[in-house]
Parts: sequence; structure tokens; C-alpha cells
Amino acid sequence: MKLPELVIKNFRLRNCIVQGGMGVGVSRWKLAGAVSEEGGLGTISSAALRSIISKQEGKNVDTYTAVRMEIEKARSLSNGGSIAINVMCALVGDYDSTIRASIDEHVDAIISGAGLPMGLPGIQAPGNTALIPIVSSARALELIIKRWERLKYRPDAVVLEGPLAGGHLGFKMDEVENPDFSLEKLLPSVLEVADKNGGFPIVVAGGIYTHEDIIKFLSMGASGVQMGTRFLATEESSATEAYKQAVVSAEMDDITVVSYPNSSPASPCGLPFRILKNSPAYNANRTPKCTRGYVLQRGSDGKLSTCRAMPGNPDSEKFLCICNVLLASAGYAPDEPEGYTVGTNAYRVKEILPVSKLMTELRGE
Ligand SMILES: Cc1cc2nc3c(=O)[nH]c(=O)nc-3n(C[C@H](O)[C@H](O)[C@H](O)COP(=O)(O)O)c2cc1C
Repeated sequence: MKLPELVIKNFRLRNCIVQGGMGVGVSRWKLAGAVSEEGGLGTISSAALRSIISKQEGKNVDTYTAVRMEIEKARSLSNGGSIAINVMCALVGDYDSTIRASIDEHVDAIISGAGLPMGLPGIQAPGNTALIPIVSSARALELIIKRWERLKYRPDAVVLEGPLAGGHLGFKMDEVENPDFSLEKLLPSVLEVADKNGGFPIVVAGGIYTHEDIIKFLSMGASGVQMGTRFLATEESSATEAYKQAVVSAEMDDITVVSYPNSSPASPCGLPFRILKNSPAYNANRTPKCTRGYVLQRGSDGKLSTCRAMPGNPDSEKFLCICNVLLASAGYAPDEPEGYTVGTNAYRVKEILPVSKLMTELRGE
């Protein structure tokens, strides 16, 4: 079956595939541009762009400028296709300036999760940019809709991400493997909330691997799919060669979920995090310490000043500096051990494909 188009706010995708944002530095302009050229939504990750672009340019570049540069570069590859940016709420320090830069650069969509983007429409009038929250439940979507009503804005689309996804998971540890929280079970109630609130497209994510998977979720009422792991293993992704090879050689048992206080080394974001056990950072005998300060919590003075992975914080040795290990996984922090996050289906990946070939396969052609 031919995949349908997907219309969100002011843009139209030739096929309803969204490439999920992959931080840190995995989904950069090269991957997003290639997906966009193929008619999908190519998504750059905003995570730590300030560090990445500063290193690339050999001088200090601020977040606002770095974000605009990255979007512009992705767009130049896209042949008129659509580009989104993924902005994680957990990266509080850079959140507002990233949103402003994205809107000023007229990105087609801002996709925001890793926390609930409650204040997103209030940061700056979005103009033609679509605002797309990522949720893991109907309840979370209801909360966002209620809060956004006060800001006189309704989501332009929503990504519903289930527990099979890569990266941080919006579930409690005991929910991750509970079949009651499968994407198939979560979708009907989220569709209902969307219908009750004027209707907007629901894009599903987490564990979607084949053309047939896409068709299955479309037949259940989804308007599109967001996929991460399959795009991680492409030639255009900026994951290191070692990361891509670790994905290709992964077996099902090599994939685990870490979460504080259940298991370590955990992410300081406070959310369960899926990781390959053979990641150097998972096996390191010392956990890398925070030196970046992107994932901040409030300190005893009430100010956003401390990360749980900073030495001196309670149990700091149980946390990874998620920024450093993920920067390392895209080649931007060569002295730190790499940390490989993947979705549950990573063990099915057997070769690294160019985006054009992967998109042809996913379209069922
Ligand atoms: C390497 C990797 C990094 C990711 N980083 C982010 C991120 O920075 N922000 C985010 O919202 N989601 C992130 N995700 C989630 C993806 O955008 C996507 O929704 C998810 O992986 C879909 O599940 P799949 O991998 O089974 O296709 C990441 C996923 C992977 C595999």
C-alpha cells in the first residue's frame, strides 16, 4: 500500500514518515536533510548544539546562532522538503533560546518532549512553525491541551511515544515492559483526546520497524509514524562508526533500560533510558561526571544550577554525564566513553543503509 501524505499546519509531507530527533549530535543537518529530500520530516536534534557547533567552528558560538546555522544547513539539503527540530524540555538552560532561534529561522516544526512542554506556545508567537509535543499517555496530552488553552494554542500534531523507543522513556520503570502500556493500547485514548479537542494528527513512535508496521498503525487511526533506530543505522546519521557497528552486532539480550534508583549508571534526567550493554560508558569503571551543565535541577538555593551527575550531589556516582557520553557517541567528546542508546528493535538491524534506500523500503516500494 502506498503511504499517505501527512499535512501538519502549513507543510505537507509526501509520505507520513517522521525521522525522530536523536541527540546528542546523531540527527544533524545531514540526516535531517536527506530524510526531508525523500519526502519525510527530517528532524535535527537541538541537544548540545552550542558545544557541537562551537567545536566545529573553532570559536564560541551561542545557542541561538548554533540552532539557526544547523536548521539552515539542513534546509539547504532538503530540496524544498520539511525540516523539524527536536527540543528536549530537560535541557532547561538552552530551551527558550532554542525555541526562539527555531521560530526565527522558520523551521517547519518544533517537536518537544523529555518532559511536558507546558509553556512552549508562550515563549514566542510561532508564526508558520508547527508546535508538536511528545507524550506517552492521553493524560499527559490532556494536561498540555489545558495549559495551552490559556496560551490560546492547540497542538498542531502530537507524537505519541510508547515504551519501545530509544533514548529517554516517558514511563515508570515497571511500566516499560507492562503490555498495558504498549503503543497499541495507548493509541485509542490519545486519538479520543485529539478528537474531543478539534482533531489533529497523531504520529506514533517506538518499535516501528517495517512498512507493514506503519500500515498497521495507520489502520488504527494514526496519521504518521516517527522512527529513530532505523535512521540511527544509516550512512547519513552522525553516530560514530563504533556506535553503528555496535547496533549492527547487537543481540536482543544486549539491550537494557537503566533508571535511578533501580539500576545504574542512570541518566540524570530522571527518566528511564534504553542503552546497549556493550556501550563503553555502561561498562566504564568510573561514571563520567557532568562538565556541561545542560541537564540542570534546582539546587538548595532554588536556582537551576546543578546536575545530578555533578560530583558532590547525592549518589552522583550512579549517574552518567549523559551529555558527555552522548557527545562521545557522535565523535564530539573523544576523551569520554561512548553511550549507545537504541530502541528495542536495534537487534534487527543487520546493515547500515543510505537514507534513500531505507525510505524506499519503508514506503513499501
Ligand atoms: C540514538 C537515539 C537518540 C534519541 N534522542 C532523542 C532525543 O534527543 N530527543 C527525543 O525526544 N527523542 C530521542 N530519541 C527517540 C526518537 O526520536 C524516536 O522517537 C524513537 O527512537 C522511536 O522509536 P524507535 O527507535 O523504535 O523507532 C532518540 C532515539 C534514539 C535511537
